[in-house]
Amino acid sequence: MDARTAPRVVLVGPPGSGKTTVAQGLARYWDLAHRDTDTDVETTAGKPIAEIFVDDGEPAFRAMERDAVAAALADHDGVLSLGGGAVLDESTQAALEAYARDGGAVVFLDVTLAHAGPRVGFNQARPLLLGNPRAQWQALMQARRPIYERLATLRVLTDACTPAQVVEQVAHGL
Ligand code: S3P
Repeated sequence: MDARTAPRVVLVGPPGSGKTTVAQGLARYWDLAHRDTDTDVETTAGKPIAEIFVDDGEPAFRAMERDAVAAALADHDGVLSLGGGAVLDESTQAALEAYARDGGAVVFLDVTLAHAGPRVGFNQARPLLLGNPRAQWQALMQARRPIYERLATLRVLTDACTPAQVVEQVAHGL
């Protein structure tokens, strides 16, 4: 598939599902640009997400994230990866529904705790998982799964798959 026929793709899913790595792989596969909303937020704020949470609080982070997603969806034709909690925002949900109606693909990278845990590494970059990361992750996933499933035009279970295998599944599943 060349860039003219390459789809527009947004990757959603919980921390540890491999969104960023798979998005980079898909972008290479189609020779497209990759954009990541966590990176956009950090660039705008001029500091890492962990510091935004500490200095400004989660609501401020979510507002920045909502703006970053809206800007990226309006101005990006390649592969876009979203922070795991971006789908919690109702205007983001509406924007992703519109994106899908317009022919874009919203791909839910699904994963179980057993496989997400080692990938996440439970580090400072994910402030919501501090404390008891495994329990926090499970709670996040339980609350968000219905949203990921509702928004997705394609779901790929990434357990036991290499990033390259997930790239193949997404590319062939669209
Ligand atoms: C978050 C996930 C993170 C980052 C922030 C909040 C979440 O992104 O946006 O720490 O709410 O799940 P990743 O999904 O890339 O880890």
